[in-house]
Amino acid sequence: KEGFAKAKLKFTPIAPVDAAVDAVTVPEGFTWQPVIRWGDPIFNGAPDFDLNNQTAAAQEKQFGYNCDYTDILEIPNTKGRRAVLFANHEYTNDGIMFPPSMPAADVRAVGQAAHGLSVVELERKNKNKPWTYVKGAPLNRRLLNNTVYELTGPAAGSELVKTVKDRDGRFIKGTLGNCAGGTTPWGTILSGEENFNGYFRSPGTSAYDKRYGLTDKATARQWEIDDERFDTRKPGYENEANRFGYIVEVDPFDPTSTPKKHSSLGRFKHEGANVIIAESGHVVAYSGDDERFDYLYKFVSKDKYIEGNRQHNMTLLSAGNLYVARFTGNSADFKASEVPADGAFDGTGEWLALVENGVSAVPEMTVEQVLVYTRVAADKVGPTKMDRAEDVEPSLHTGKVYVACTNNSNRGVGSNEAANEVNPRNENRDGHIVEITETGDQTSTAFTWNLLMVCGDPATDKFTYFSGFPVDKVSPISCPDNLAFDSVGNLWISTDGAPAGIGKADGLFKVTLEGAERGKVEQFLAVPKEGETCGPIIHDDERTVFVAVQHPGEEGSFEKQSSFFPDYVKEGATPARGEARAPRPSVIQVFRTDA
Ligand code: FEO
Ligand code: CA
Ligand code: CA
Ligand code: CA
Repeated sequence: KEGFAKAKLKFTPIAPVDAAVDAVTVPEGFTWQPVIRWGDPIFNGAPDFDLNNQTAAAQEKQFGYNCDYTDILEIPNTKGRRAVLFANHEYTNDGIMFPPSMPAADVRAVGQAAHGLSVVELERKNKNKPWTYVKGAPLNRRLLNNTVYELTGPAAGSELVKTVKDRDGRFIKGTLGNCAGGTTPWGTILSGEENFNGYFRSPGTSAYDKRYGLTDKATARQWEIDDERFDTRKPGYENEANRFGYIVEVDPFDPTSTPKKHSSLGRFKHEGANVIIAESGHVVAYSGDDERFDYLYKFVSKDKYIEGNRQHNMTLLSAGNLYVARFTGNSADFKASEVPADGAFDGTGEWLALVENGVSAVPEMTVEQVLVYTRVAADKVGPTKMDRAEDVEPSLHTGKVYVACTNNSNRGVGSNEAANEVNPRNENRDGHIVEITETGDQTSTAFTWNLLMVCGDPATDKFTYFSGFPVDKVSPISCPDNLAFDSVGNLWISTDGAPAGIGKADGLFKVTLEGAERGKVEQFLAVPKEGETCGPIIHDDERTVFVAVQHPGEEGSFEKQSSFFPDYVKEGATPARGEARAPRPSVIQVFRTDA
């Protein structure tokens, strides 16, 4: 615990920002600039971004839209002057991206090319200077809808994932709905396939389709018009949607590598996955299923981590045990929206086996079925229905695991399950954070838990909770989504949905976890109008923070844009080359002006 020494990134918290403000707000003494924006060309020969004349061929060579998970990893032996940025591109906001005159087929083609993943090299003069991206660098890569991913684990090669185009059921084109993620100790990136169901038109009649939200309706982007695999009603493509909903692993240091989809971590609306090495050497990955009343999962690898053996470590997520969480509160007197009599939201929990030692632990389901229809399997073993588990991240300082339950407006509504000690609010608008302590080794099937915080604005909400820290001394916070840690073990939380909750712009917040100030929340930044704060990276030793600004100005239209982040071209002015008077989702860096 000595790691909790001194915070290297000191700042005076910003005041909450009105949700209508179209600006990045940072603390005094800091400034910001983009690292890379939607449309920035990343390969030699790629054209500059041109808002009114985008083509699929251009977009395939440019940075994609709506980043969620990001990380920046230094390239070894470059004296800190060179790094590689990973970013995923969760979805597109077609209505603000494309002129209304653009043919629908072009919108579909450019939109597809704006999805997927990006790997881009960065450079800087020295450790005190901000990063710029390097066009044409050797590691630069766009992973698109025709990029082939290898399916690993027991579902690979099973009948449940075969299609007319992949009769072996082992190679899958594309990744969809990539949301949060994690970086492994062996330097690869994990990214969660979340709302993949929205890209498929399906019969919508089976129990499986229903459990995964697959319906017989034209999809929002209608890619099924051009590519029949997005229509699982079509003969030969019945299983296509079974090939999405996994954790993807990418090696950003090898642009020729085949990315993977790991069936051993199950198939659901994976928000992301984060890994910790247990004392035993097994690798443990935590992942939330981001849907109201869905579950929290944990994977334990069959084999052990070997320091320095990257090839071996890259196989660890292919085989292991899969569990789902059940929480039990210890306060029989629990009442919704009240701190229990024992002063804490807390209790015990179990990890219920779904797959153990390669064998299904679920009655009447095979291992393949458990890993492809994981939600259905979990339903049979009685886990706890959560308020939308977004990021789930273990602290590498303490081994404690943090779960961002973002909100659940349906909790306790109608016949829906009512509040309980671990999801303590009905019509949960502002969310909460669960803190899990594994009993013994990280691979344990037993744990204890407590709530770190019940979010909200204490000035207007009489029920908020910050582990006992005075509620009048915290930054108001709502809808926690992504989690990150700084080098000394403070938790950082980015939010998505605060405007609809507490009426303030989304932002990034630091939370002290240990000592007298445990539970103290301090707001570091706020993102522009209608944006979500994603993918925080805290390089506190360099006094720099990175976030992805996702879907800025999403309520606007092409002709009447709502945000002008990040170029902020003035009305009537001619945009400079590569700039645009429209919102551009971007990865930005926030750094000290005195650096
Ligand atoms: Fe894409 Fe669960 O947020
Ligand atoms: Ca209690
Ligand atoms: Ca999210
Ligand atoms: Ca969210």
